[in-house]
Amino acid sequence: MIRPAIGVLVSGRGSNLQALFDAIESGVLDARIAVVVSDQPSAPALARATAAGVATAVVERRAFASRDAFDRAIAGILRQHEVVLVCLAGFMRLLGAGFVAEFPNAILNIHPSLLPSFPGLDAQRQALEHGVRVSGATVHIVTAELDAGPIVAQAAVPVLDEDTVETLAARILVEEHRIYPAAVRAWLAGGWRIEGRRFVHATTADEMASSRS
Ligand code: GAR
Repeated sequence: MIRPAIGVLVSGRGSNLQALFDAIESGVLDARIAVVVSDQPSAPALARATAAGVATAVVERRAFASRDAFDRAIAGILRQHEVVLVCLAGFMRLLGAGFVAEFPNAILNIHPSLLPSFPGLDAQRQALEHGVRVSGATVHIVTAELDAGPIVAQAAVPVLDEDTVETLAARILVEEHRIYPAAVRAWLAGGWRIEGRRFVHATTADEMASSRS
């Protein structure tokens, strides 16, 4: 069987990209990363891709007159590599409605808060400054609205009195690396549906009971 091709979009460090590579390497994820696209030429994530023997591309926003043209360039690369799923892994740019429509329900994003709390930039700082006692990580399907699509997976972590943005971010990151591969696996397994705002797994209680017997 040909393993499904994933395209990953990055802007920086690439630790979530690495978590996906590791999950594939260890057999947790039956997929292949076909291409890694960065909007930042100096993103350390690109070196991780190269080390894993995966094709990379750099698409800089400033090289395009409009966001649409930038989005189309990225979509073209993903199409060339025949990806079935696009994973945003620390990709720090907004993608337009046109891009989202190109890959319907087939773009995932990881965000370092329990959405819908603290969307956008600096989510860990927002959580700390708000004074919440619990924060976490969310994997969601990308829609045209920022950080607002159906939620595939979440994990919570405590916010401690002595936390700084850095210590909180590090605690959340551990969960990000756990839930992103799990969410990708669930997406690729198929059989799910979107009901309103909800990502619903197909397996019903009846099906689970019969698979146990
Ligand atoms: C991660 O914490 C990810 O959740 C966050 O950027 C970091 C990227 O780290 N993404 C966002 O804030 C998106 N709004 P990484 O490059 O090491 O995966």
